[in-house]
Amino acid sequence: MSGQLVTVARVTDLTAPDRSATIEARSAEFVTAELADAAARVSEEPGPAPADSQPDRASASAAAGDLAAGADPAPRARLRQLWPYLRPHRRVLSLVVAVSLLGAVVAIAQPAMVGLVIADVGKSEPLGGVVALLVVLILVGAVIRGLQQYLLQRTAEAVVLDTRRLLVARLLRLPIREYDTRRTGDLVSRVGSDTTLLRSVVTSGLVDAVSGSLIFVGSVVAMALISPMLLGLTLLVVALAVAVVVVLGGRIQKLTLTSQTQVGALAAGVARAIPGIRTIRAAGATQRETVVLDELAGNAFSTGVRLAKVMALIEPIIGIALQGAFIVVLGVGGYLVADGTMQVAGLVSFILYLFMMIMPLGQVFNAYTATQNALGAVIRIEEITSLPEEEVAPAGLAGTVTMSAPGAAADALSFHGVSYRYSDIPVLRDVSFTVPRGSKTAIVGPSGAGKSTLLSLIERFYEPDAGTIRLGGVDVRTMTRTQTRAAIGYVEQDSPVLAGTIRENLLLGAPAADDAACEAVLASVNLTPILRRDPAGLDAQVGEDGILLSGGERQRLAIARALLSAPQLLLLDEPTASLDGRNERALREAIDAVAQDRTLIVVAHRLATVVDADHILVLEHGQVQAVGTHQELVESSPLYRELAAHQLLV
Ligand SMILES: Nc1ncnc2c1ncn2[C@@H]1O[C@H](COP(=O)(O)OP(=O)(O)OP(=O)(O)O)[C@@H](O)[C@H]1O
Ligand SMILES: [Mg+2]
Repeated sequence: MSGQLVTVARVTDLTAPDRSATIEARSAEFVTAELADAAARVSEEPGPAPADSQPDRASASAAAGDLAAGADPAPRARLRQLWPYLRPHRRVLSLVVAVSLLGAVVAIAQPAMVGLVIADVGKSEPLGGVVALLVVLILVGAVIRGLQQYLLQRTAEAVVLDTRRLLVARLLRLPIREYDTRRTGDLVSRVGSDTTLLRSVVTSGLVDAVSGSLIFVGSVVAMALISPMLLGLTLLVVALAVAVVVVLGGRIQKLTLTSQTQVGALAAGVARAIPGIRTIRAAGATQRETVVLDELAGNAFSTGVRLAKVMALIEPIIGIALQGAFIVVLGVGGYLVADGTMQVAGLVSFILYLFMMIMPLGQVFNAYTATQNALGAVIRIEEITSLPEEEVAPAGLAGTVTMSAPGAAADALSFHGVSYRYSDIPVLRDVSFTVPRGSKTAIVGPSGAGKSTLLSLIERFYEPDAGTIRLGGVDVRTMTRTQTRAAIGYVEQDSPVLAGTIRENLLLGAPAADDAACEAVLASVNLTPILRRDPAGLDAQVGEDGILLSGGERQRLAIARALLSAPQLLLLDEPTASLDGRNERALREAIDAVAQDRTLIVVAHRLATVVDADHILVLEHGQVQAVGTHQELVESSPLYRELAAHQLLV
């Protein structure tokens, strides 16, 4: 059980959307494989559904009314949208149907056998053979039922597994822009909770519905042979019931969508509160946050109750249909018998078939309800799976194209009239500059000038609206994103460290590095002490978001990760922001050491870290204001002089 909890936690701990930038920059394949694995482990351990599974509908009262939920126009999913999820399992599902038909035959044979036993007892004949046969039939029936249940549950889990893998694969490959606007918790909830609703399609009556349909068709044929007129009347009543149930089905789907969206909002609320718990505690906002989350949970509850009311209506409606049809058939049939146009025996058989027809109809309706339920979740799942993946290869460029060899003289990086806007406001305007091979270039400028955005464009998290970026003289648009990123090491501004061990963090970009290389790179950023203080060494946990490390340690670990993959071009966003003077110097030396044969671009607020740069680019309001060495800029750029003056550098 605890294993189950741990693996569930792993899947729901999809921190990936949060830090997808880091993962993108490193190895999405590697991480995806891990998450898919985690999904597989959860699915292989059948156990209680996640806590946020559907509310207990059975316990809710059957009060009619209050059906006006989900008034907002929601997309509607069609039945055939479920087929792609079931299709891979059609063989097993056909097998289950066959097994269930066999089970039905065995079940039908049992009363007949009992009848035989009773008859034999009456005739005082030896019972041995018949009783043995009865026992065998009972055992075979039990085995078949067990097998059918197992196959159903297993297939249901497999459907959930496939869907989770599909979702996870897409979730880690969305364009970076998508993560800017979506809520992590909601995305996690789609993987964890929405997918489980697909389970009920398989388990709740899909097979019953199939066998039920067969019995239904058989009964209808028999009834048609006895009296087409009575059949017509019966079908009229049944059609009315079906129409009502279909309308309710639409409501069920909508309410499920609402309910799952509310569960997603709750998950997003929790996912917001937990990482921010220190801020919330410090601000004395714990109670207020609790109230907000309570309300979100309450929303999901009331939608669940509304759903229960709608679902509770289905059974009574079927009951009324049965009774209505029965009364109509009895009345009209009675009249026909009195009239002499119908035999009593015919009427009795007809009524027996009527019962036979209505019973499986209930199963079909149940399956229909479960299906509508699942369709509500499918809408949310497909909202993600229908999003385009971040394009790996530019249009017209096959994935196999290798990067054209850059000319030895080409600049490591150059921007040519690059402009970019996130929304309406331009963030970068007509930016042009070149970074010679092997040089150290610094980017400075006021907060919000667009420095981090510029690095994001180099990493191709976003594509420029205008202009060209060249890497080693080659237009990046002619390369795949993977090729571009493979040539670059990138340390984000908030130095992300992923939950896991130190080793896992280091190997993200260089999965083949050995322990010696890891230790060497840690030593180069002065992180050897964190290896010593924990006997686990490289396998020491860093905590959620690296919370077990200090800010400076996190930063150095992120830099060590970038250094380990030994990229040609190293992008560092504020690498010394949270370092003390001594560590800053040590880090600068470490960076300079690795930068010997590489190109380095450093964004820095602390000008002391960049005075020795070959070029300094002054960025303001998304425009390049000046380029030069420290000395040149102090003389020529008023903005640079001002920045430097504030830091006592001039
Ligand atoms: N993902 C985003 N979506 C929309 N707007 C953004 C996004 N990221 C940044 N911005 C906006 O773009 C502008 C430039 O941001 P950027 O992060 O590039 O600044 P910066 O120069 O790195 O600042 P700082 O020195 O504070 O890190 C800011 O006004 C910011 O609000
Ligand atoms: Mg920044």
